[in-house]
Amino acid sequence: MDNKNFKSRFGFLMAAVGSAVGVGNLWGFPYKMGANGGFAFLLCYAFCVVIGYVIMTGELAIGRSGGKGVIENYKLTGKRNGWIGVLAALSVLLITGFCCTLTAYCMKYFLANLGTLLNASWGINGGDAAAYWDAFLSNGLEAALLTLLCVVITMVILFKGTSGIEKFCKYAMPLLVLLLLIVIGRSLSLPGSSAGLAFMFKPDWSVFQGTGWITVFARAGGQAFFSLSLGMAIMITYGAYLNKTENIGKNAALICFFDTLVAILAGVAIFPAVFAFGHEPAGGTGLLFVTLQTVFTDMGMIGAFFGCIFYLLAVIAELTSLVSLFEPQIAFINDVAAIKGKTISRTKLVIGVSIFNFATGALVAFDALGKGGLIQPLGFCWMDFFDLFSEGILMPIGALAMTLILGWKLGPKWMEAEMTQGGNTWKSKQFYMVCLKYIAPLFILLVFAGQISNFFGLGWF
Ligand code: PFF
Repeated sequence: MDNKNFKSRFGFLMAAVGSAVGVGNLWGFPYKMGANGGFAFLLCYAFCVVIGYVIMTGELAIGRSGGKGVIENYKLTGKRNGWIGVLAALSVLLITGFCCTLTAYCMKYFLANLGTLLNASWGINGGDAAAYWDAFLSNGLEAALLTLLCVVITMVILFKGTSGIEKFCKYAMPLLVLLLLIVIGRSLSLPGSSAGLAFMFKPDWSVFQGTGWITVFARAGGQAFFSLSLGMAIMITYGAYLNKTENIGKNAALICFFDTLVAILAGVAIFPAVFAFGHEPAGGTGLLFVTLQTVFTDMGMIGAFFGCIFYLLAVIAELTSLVSLFEPQIAFINDVAAIKGKTISRTKLVIGVSIFNFATGALVAFDALGKGGLIQPLGFCWMDFFDLFSEGILMPIGALAMTLILGWKLGPKWMEAEMTQGGNTWKSKQFYMVCLKYIAPLFILLVFAGQISNFFGLGWF
């Protein structure tokens, strides 16, 4: 494989933060924070990010020490550990399926607002946002074609390997932050916006009452792990491209910090505007494609401008996540070919992986969140089904296995050798190992239980 390392720390950081920042930050975190205790939730989330930091550091270390794709990397930690890599790879395949389609949805709304701005017939041009969303969803072909467009863009970025990822993310991520700041400026300047800030930040300590604190921690943990792209093949694959001289701990801390910062900023961009126009707070697709579009429509022509900016930043957030989801698949197939003594050109690998991802993305597009009349696995729409298996099941099991192997089998000596490569120091060793061996595994089990209970509506806590 042209297993070329990232050329600069900034490039690596932007690629990794780009993976972490996605719809999880835009539609997941802000609503969950507001609906689960505001500032009280944020404190729990901060704790979860510390655990996330422990897992991310471990994944980057495993990746960099092996320098291969996820399955081969796990095999290098112990002959029988390859199955953890298989879970991670599977998880990535499932997540990619729905992320491609979500990117396409954001693209549609970017184009729709652009059309309004240009006074074109293909603009959204006022009207009921909920009806527009339903009409779009029922047109599976349009969503599938837009999915194809997003897959092709990702493919083009990936042809050049890490240098393509690095180049794209180096410009895309600062642009995303700039666009976010523009939307924040508008949102906060609206009369009545303070109610949105109160929704997000006002502490509600009552959420901790009884067993409530378990629920809050389980929700915050699930959100943090998904948002940081953990328990999948991503950080292991990106770690494999990290220079030996880089300080893994410092990089992981920066990724966690920026991901959380963008999640909070997204809330400050979204909820003040939602409340200023008197709408009910929501999460998920309802927030992104109905509530927010209604707000942009309510703003009139200037709303189309801000709509363009907002959905463009959502597209960017998703594209930088998509490249991180495709790359582990490419690295994995490349490893398999190498074991068999074959070499496959990067171009062929990228095209092959893209075709597969387009197929799963098209399935999600035609399923239209369950409205497309396709068979519903276990009664879930395909997007939720993929999410359940990846985020709900495979990801926590993979992350748990990783902490056990690293904490209990490879141990502090192995970890120290990797952390201090290139003359770096590792000051938090004691604290890190306690978290890795005891706190992280227990916490992942809690998140796992929370996810299962949430997905199947079991109401455990
Ligand atoms: N972290 C991204 C988000 O918060 O939206 C989504 C994601 C990307 C999850 C890549 C997992 C992943 F491997």
